[in-house]
Amino acid sequence: MSKKFVVGQIGCGAFARAQHGPNCCRNEHIAKIKWACDVSKDNARTYAQQFGAEKTTSSFEDVTTDPEVDVICIATSHEAHVPIIESAAKHGKHVFCEKPMAMDELQSYKIIRAVRTSKIKLCVDYMRRTAPAMLALKREWLAHKANPQRQPWRYIEKPHEKLIEETATDFLVRVQDESSSYRMVHLDPFRGGGLIIGEATHWLDLACWLFDDDRPVQILAWGSARMRYGIHLSFQGGNAATIIFTPNGSFDYPKEMFEIACDGALFRMEHWVENQYYGRPGTEKEVFSLQRDCAPEVGKQGGLSGYLEKHKATVSSTTNAKKVWNDLVPNHGWEENFDGFIDSIINGSPTPCDELAGYRATLLGNLAIKSIELNKPLPVPVDKWDYHVELQ
Ligand SMILES: NC(=O)c1ccc[n+]([C@@H]2O[C@H](COP(=O)([O-])OP(=O)(O)OC[C@H]3O[C@@H](n4cnc5c(N)ncnc54)[C@H](O)[C@@H]3O)[C@@H](O)[C@H]2O)c1
Repeated sequence: MSKKFVVGQIGCGAFARAQHGPNCCRNEHIAKIKWACDVSKDNARTYAQQFGAEKTTSSFEDVTTDPEVDVICIATSHEAHVPIIESAAKHGKHVFCEKPMAMDELQSYKIIRAVRTSKIKLCVDYMRRTAPAMLALKREWLAHKANPQRQPWRYIEKPHEKLIEETATDFLVRVQDESSSYRMVHLDPFRGGGLIIGEATHWLDLACWLFDDDRPVQILAWGSARMRYGIHLSFQGGNAATIIFTPNGSFDYPKEMFEIACDGALFRMEHWVENQYYGRPGTEKEVFSLQRDCAPEVGKQGGLSGYLEKHKATVSSTTNAKKVWNDLVPNHGWEENFDGFIDSIINGSPTPCDELAGYRATLLGNLAIKSIELNKPLPVPVDKWDYHVELQ
């Protein structure tokens, strides 16, 4: 029987209540949430009541210096991370940190140094890496890459040696978001950083995780770093990721769609609930359960059509969008990422998304912003990627 951990929650706003609290409460290795810390007393109190936290405070040092606390969960606005992580690390607490881990290189440097000096575990909540649908998509793509299969009817004009472009994989991320739902702090240049730093870092991280044996070498971005953009990330081996983000869509249709195109095959994921595989003989679509399903009586077939039926049933019985978001939730990997973090402490293994990955997403996000400002593609410098932090 392994030790059970005591948690301190710092930042008790919407996301802490939607995911951190529930995921701590359901993890069998968590003994209790001792602290609810927020500069807003109301938010701290609400969180404490909801998840049974023993104490509330507005000072994060009450939490990071408490000898009983083992794990700190951070869900503050983005600019607040560095002093909290430095103090947590100094006092030997492991850290589960909301994304983005840092807003710029200097913040990242300080965090990496603090984490490695104190030898604590840090996990960034780029949880899409751990979502069952995303893991299945990667698995199917890798299987095809290793052993390409052809549909018998595939048209081949004349067999030829592969050209370089035909040896690469293309990863497309299409995001259609609804800007009316945004908390404006996320668009504040110094507290949120806009939606490349706040959101695109999710998909930049995902692209690096997908092409994990390849290294990004060039980035080209266009549009507005605040909330409407495209990003093209090229890798040394020829692979590429393209992210298209619009804030002008509708949540009546799912927000995210992913496509991986490779060697005559297409691997497609719709909103974490359905994977479709095309171009390989005998492959069937896969469907995935929701993290929370408040309409189990409809859309029982699952997948995209099932999700759309559940959505329709849910929104027709309420006008409370927050209730819809909290109660009908496709599985983006939040529970799996948190559980993986706790397991990494128990087993002494790497966390699902460590401080280097957190830094790299921030690096790419900032290069994308620079690319927009300069209106040109930029290199991803090798020394920025292969990052060296000298410990004192
Ligand atoms: N991983 C995901 O899928 C996902 C989804 C949504 C939000 N997030 C992230 O979660 C974090 C919180 O977002 P949110 O939507 O809950 O925002 P929010 O504004 O609702 O909550 C942030 C809370 O942090 C508090 N806070 C700010 N500075 C503080 C400090 N120094 N000490 C203590 N409390 C402080 C605020 O008072 C507020 O209650 C952000 O990093 C956001 O990017 C992640």
